[in-house]
Amino acid sequence: MKASSTSFRAAVLLALVGMVWGIVMAISQDHSTMPAHAHLNLLGWVSLFLFGIFYRLNPGIDRSRSARIQVGVWIVATVVLTTGVALEHSGNPAGDPIAAIGSLAVLADMVLFGWLVLRHERNADVVGSKPMPAE
Ligand code: HEM
Repeated sequence: MKASSTSFRAAVLLALVGMVWGIVMAISQDHSTMPAHAHLNLLGWVSLFLFGIFYRLNPGIDRSRSARIQVGVWIVATVVLTTGVALEHSGNPAGDPIAAIGSLAVLADMVLFGWLVLRHERNADVVGSKPMPAE
């Protein structure tokens, strides 16, 4: 499956979970897990959907193994980070190392995404600077 398709599907799923989480917080008037809700929505919905748009705009990378790995790691790391932050803010100290692992994985995965973007943009610059036959 293309990286963009996985990104879009997972982003919508995580958005639904994040929104239900927000509604549960609002109804229960217990906002203690608010940081976990915010991370799930921003990493799982916003960032993942943005990755999907980038990959869809660049079909050459969209089918690459690196892009699929980047999206897969992001999804898993987001769930790990969110779980850790939720546990921590619910008064369970076991959440701390889980959140730490998730945050390092998300950071490393953003470095991978940055490398993919830079490599692709450098190639796009080289191709874009060559005059087309019709010009
Ligand atoms: C059905 C949809 C949603 C509901 C019912 C909801 C509900 C909530 C609630 C009750 C809070 C806690 C507010 C507080 O304690 O001050 C909160 C915080 C937050 N939510 Fe949501 N939310 C929803 C969707 C989203 C989405 C889609 C995003 C991001 C794209 C998002 C991002 C955030 C952020 C960043 C905070 C923290 C705000 C702060 O620091 O004051 N939420 N949300």
